[in-house]
Amino acid sequence: MKDLVNISDVKHHVGETVKIGAWLADKSGKGKLQFLQLRDGTAFFQAVVFKPSFIEKFGEEAGEVKFNEIKHLAQESSLYVTGIIKEDARSKFGYEMDVTDFEVIGHSEDYPITPKDHGTDFLMDHRHLWLRSKKQMAVMQVRNALIYATYAFFDKHGFIKFDSPILSGNAAENTTELFETDYFGSPAFLSQSGQLYLEAGAMALGRVFDFGPVFRAEKSKTRRHLTEFWMMDAEYPFLSHEESLDLQEAYIKALIQGVLDKADGALDILERDKDLLKKYVETPFKRISYDEVIDLLQAHENDEDTDYEHVEHGDDFGSPHETWVSNYFGVPTFVVNYPASFKAFYMKPVPGNPERVLCADLLAPEGYGEIVGGSERETDYAALLQKIKDNGLQEEDYDWYLDLRKYGSVPHCGFGLGLERMVTFVAGNEHIREAIPFPRMISRIKP
Ligand code: 4AD
Repeated sequence: MKDLVNISDVKHHVGETVKIGAWLADKSGKGKLQFLQLRDGTAFFQAVVFKPSFIEKFGEEAGEVKFNEIKHLAQESSLYVTGIIKEDARSKFGYEMDVTDFEVIGHSEDYPITPKDHGTDFLMDHRHLWLRSKKQMAVMQVRNALIYATYAFFDKHGFIKFDSPILSGNAAENTTELFETDYFGSPAFLSQSGQLYLEAGAMALGRVFDFGPVFRAEKSKTRRHLTEFWMMDAEYPFLSHEESLDLQEAYIKALIQGVLDKADGALDILERDKDLLKKYVETPFKRISYDEVIDLLQAHENDEDTDYEHVEHGDDFGSPHETWVSNYFGVPTFVVNYPASFKAFYMKPVPGNPERVLCADLLAPEGYGEIVGGSERETDYAALLQKIKDNGLQEEDYDWYLDLRKYGSVPHCGFGLGLERMVTFVAGNEHIREAIPFPRMISRIKP
């Protein structure tokens, strides 16, 4: 149907007669007028049907029949609509259509999601239809812009896309969060992160990244956790930890800018504060060590507006602490050099301080929590083997990974971004469940 115009493109057709393929999202009417809210996946806009125009065009009887057909058309019916595009300063979208003709394609009966408010469980049960609503369309457009900006950024910075496997014989992160499956009689695990394989890629190709679904059997029932999510991992040789943070900061800024450029209309629909997003692009991110954060949290724990629990040096901190820290600085904040005790086995110790590791979590502002986790990797064969044993992992599962330290080991760093956390942050959403088409959570696998 190459003669169809997208709603998002009607601005280029003011004064012209165009045809669109659309669904009827909503409708209202008054006397001789029907106001159709149409959507075609690219945008929503209003099309106006004026009965006298139909009568003039089709004659008294046929015009009346056609007008009644549109008047009684049910929500989510699909149709071709032809009409003249005009500017409309009163609407946020800026354009509307004067309908000259239409043709119903598919009828819809008793569409379950009506314009009234529905509860979250109801909407989640109808996710396959909920995706059609305006806000959900906008969130998916933000997600798409982030994916597009990821590929553009890594291409620009000399990275090669290197696809890590999803079925794996070993854990990449915490072994308590593994989904196990039967692989022809032997156990296999769904990937938690492509990182370990990506390290092999970095030794073969230099700068590499992967981008795909990962799985965590996390029992966390929070607004930040999914059991299946998309991770972008990047890995690069010959870069220091500091340079790695520079690269991560540039990437996150490129992502936010990418959404501002490509999904501006979606941000408007989501009523996201674009000035705030621009500020994150323009302002340097904060960098602070874990121990400095603990000092800061202790110093402020009795403040009137704080509600986090007391933490000691060496404790892992939770989302109330993360929220407080990122709000305190008001920009994305790297917390570096966490205790080795609760970080993954592959991280390199801070020189002179084996209790801490060269890692960074990037905390998004406004309480969105951790969006990126990264580190410099242990390069020494013996030290890595010891860490594998200390973590209760089986040496034979990691022999291939240890090989990377046997044959020309080099300093290397990498990081992983959780796409849905980033979508939630940029879109300004409350909950991560709307950031992926079909969310998987502890109590949800359907639809
Ligand atoms: O911090 P994580 O666990 O780091 C890794 O997996 C490293 N191997 C990455 C690397 O260095 N290549 O996870 C990375 C990011 C987190 O910062 C967060 O954004 C996201 O993945 N993430 C989750 N997103 C949604 N639901 C969950 N359950 C998540 N767990 C982690």
